[in-house]
Amino acid sequence: MTLPATHIADDPYRLPRHVTPTRYELRLEPDLDNKTFAGHVTITVIVHEPTSEILLNVADLEVTSAAMTDVRGITEKGAIHLQQERQRCCIRFATTCEAGTWQLILSFNGTLNDKLRGFYRSTYKDSTGVNHVLAATQFEATDARRAFPCWDEPNFKAIFAITMVIDPNLTAVSNTAVQSEDSHAGKKVLRFADTIKMSTYLVAFVVGNLEATDPVMVGPTPLRLWTVPGKRHLASFGQDIARFSLSFLSNYYGIPYPGDKLDLIAIPDFASGAMENLGAITFRESALLLDRGRATRAELERVADVVSHENAHMWFGDLVTMSWWNGLWLNEAFATFMEILVVDVWKPEWERWTAFGVSRAAALSVDGLHSTRPIEYPVHAPKDAEAMFDVLTYEKGAAVLRMLEQYIGPAVFRQGVRDYLHHHAYANADTKDLWLSLGRAARQDIDGLLNAWVFAPGYPLLTASLNGPSDLVISQQRFTYLPKPIGDDGQAHDADQQWHIPIHINISTGHRTESRTLLLTQRETSLSLPNDWTSVLLNEGGHGFYRVHYAPVLMDRLLKSGVQRFGPIDRFNFVNDAWASTLALMMSPADYLSLTSHFTMERDHNVWAALLNSFSTLHHILESSDRPLFEHFMRNRLREVVDTLGWSPRPDESDLIKQLRGDLIRALGTLGNAEETQQRAIHDYDLERATPGLVDPNVLSALISISAFTGDEARYNEFVERFHSAATPQEERHYLYALAAFKARPLLRRTLEKTMTNEIRTQDAPFLLLALLNNVYGREDAWQFIKQNWDYLDRTFPKNGLRRMCGGIVALTTPELEQDVRAFFTSRNIDLGGQTLAQYLERLHLLVTFRERTLPVIRTALGKEKRFPHHAD
Ligand code: BES
Ligand code: ZN
Repeated sequence: MTLPATHIADDPYRLPRHVTPTRYELRLEPDLDNKTFAGHVTITVIVHEPTSEILLNVADLEVTSAAMTDVRGITEKGAIHLQQERQRCCIRFATTCEAGTWQLILSFNGTLNDKLRGFYRSTYKDSTGVNHVLAATQFEATDARRAFPCWDEPNFKAIFAITMVIDPNLTAVSNTAVQSEDSHAGKKVLRFADTIKMSTYLVAFVVGNLEATDPVMVGPTPLRLWTVPGKRHLASFGQDIARFSLSFLSNYYGIPYPGDKLDLIAIPDFASGAMENLGAITFRESALLLDRGRATRAELERVADVVSHENAHMWFGDLVTMSWWNGLWLNEAFATFMEILVVDVWKPEWERWTAFGVSRAAALSVDGLHSTRPIEYPVHAPKDAEAMFDVLTYEKGAAVLRMLEQYIGPAVFRQGVRDYLHHHAYANADTKDLWLSLGRAARQDIDGLLNAWVFAPGYPLLTASLNGPSDLVISQQRFTYLPKPIGDDGQAHDADQQWHIPIHINISTGHRTESRTLLLTQRETSLSLPNDWTSVLLNEGGHGFYRVHYAPVLMDRLLKSGVQRFGPIDRFNFVNDAWASTLALMMSPADYLSLTSHFTMERDHNVWAALLNSFSTLHHILESSDRPLFEHFMRNRLREVVDTLGWSPRPDESDLIKQLRGDLIRALGTLGNAEETQQRAIHDYDLERATPGLVDPNVLSALISISAFTGDEARYNEFVERFHSAATPQEERHYLYALAAFKARPLLRRTLEKTMTNEIRTQDAPFLLLALLNNVYGREDAWQFIKQNWDYLDRTFPKNGLRRMCGGIVALTTPELEQDVRAFFTSRNIDLGGQTLAQYLERLHLLVTFRERTLPVIRTALGKEKRFPHHAD
């Protein structure tokens, strides 16, 4: 939705539109040694109404001169007034600039910062241990203004002509191909070709001693990967998926790739996973580079995902851009949807849409809170724009798109997408524009279907019950974990919310099974079942963004008929919905625990992820004295399946089974604390160290976790050393996170301390603290540490990392800790942007409430678990 113009005019964070830019001639000269840069920009602007004032964004730059030149070449100097708070500057002229085309000329200086945003420094050591510096950019959402003065809002699209003046022994990469290379005053001067008309947040330049792969041609487009020296050999897998996805996407969209070349650049310090700068996509190293023979299945998928996601943005986001940050989902939900579509075609054996169930579940979990927000949500301050990059924008958004695609059909959906891109190329668009295009393709009005999913918070819970012997009744009502807080009687009562819900139902009788599709538009819908029905499953295929709750009879029938005959996504949703019902106190934890006994021979890694996720939450809320009982329960659930899978891959086994083996061994050795599993793990780990390559990478990753879990100081020191000498970004990550997986508090303290030293990059440190908050042996120390060092962490870590780290407070599940957490965030007046903090606190409250209500029941249920007699403890 476009904000009404009056709102924009009132918004202290928005720029007026009486002057708009069309072209930036930007010249930058970074000094990597002195951490500074000097810049000069000539901006062609159109003055729409005569004015003596121009307002544009600037942050942390010193603007040293400003002038306006008219078409005749007459120049007038302007006075520069910084408005620091509002991150902008006002240039005032003595005379009025008439309507027409002008050139605004600005000179400025800045610092290459270490905050991983704007124009920043990244460092790395070469193979001989010598330190090197490179400079890179990260502008989304609102940090282009930290590199050059500009109209830093997505709907001021313009052409960028960039010149970089650099040391002759360095290279620079930017959005477009190099047009000319000269030398001037001992410097290398690289001029890049004009970009397409695009938003400021997509501008990028990287300067350093970089190595490129040979280009591969994708149609007319040369595609290369860039790394710091010595890592180019890790680029081939990324290049393969980049090439496949670029070609697949241009076919899907029916529009050629909009750039003149495509470079994918791995940056040693990078705040997020990757960034879709047109033609110059930047990545953190672990999201682009890997050794395909030594990476786990999950790591291969991660690189394939991220590369496909960013490539998908070249159209969705770069060619067509949301008008404002409230519509960010038009970028991110689409890129996420396309990422999965691409990877699913590339490697069908990975069953990517099933794995999307895990992401959908993460969105359902946040969207079940009262403090959730609609997908499209008002944004004013930069902080609120940053907070939009969350599971609601990405995963709920992508899930809603998938639900729609499955409802109107993939071909019709694609036609709508093409129509939308075609109509808004080189411009901006809003959600209503997407509705129009999709509606045109589907030949129906889809606003009624879609609005509630995008403009309203939450989602429905479908309750399935029986009326008489064979009438199925499905009713809808908003799902929330907790009842509405007392005292909050906001107008739109949750219970009144309603959705149009496309659903697939599977009905089985003794001898056959049928699937029905319908659109629920009422609060309650009845449906007659065949007389000899045996079971009913809702949300078959798992595309719906809702939960299902079965009345006891229906639940019973499902379990009796054997859940294993349904697809993995159905089993996943079955477990995940049951667990959500449990947390919402609609199902007894005892029933849930007994339900999980139907899955001991489960073979899908996603279903196991749902089970393990619920078990690990239980682990968090139990007292330490309950642990032996819990560990026993874990061994009951896991031992049989681990025994059948064995410890090494069998010939012609799928990649997914390889991953599952690693996941389950890890769980058995840590959550299950199974002694002989631990002994074998340590033994095999030491063997692998002596003869590298013996152990499957998926299992090796579990061995590292278990060795840390059982490890002493010697092991800790060994892992610190392995972290520093790792051969790949993935290996480095395994050992880094292992440092948060020990049990001994003094060792975990050492890890805490490392997060404040330059031993660990600020791109990783907040995530390591998050892991420490999740470690039941270290969470209280981690929390104390974060409180004590808050000012330092706040100053030092990238903002998105800090926000994610704070998500770890949901693991502090005792009433006392919850109190302490609330008191801390309130007394320090901490705002994480948008609804972020409110969501963390509500989730924590939900878990503490659940614990207070159910701990005795859980204890009894765990106590009743029978042992498998053939297994000793
Ligand atoms: N546009 C984002 C990068 C970004 C994230 C910029 C947050 C500013 C703030 C990019 O396209 C993205 O979504 N990256 C993801 C990875 C992706 C595969 C989901 C990321 O960085 O985690
Ligand atoms: Zn994205």
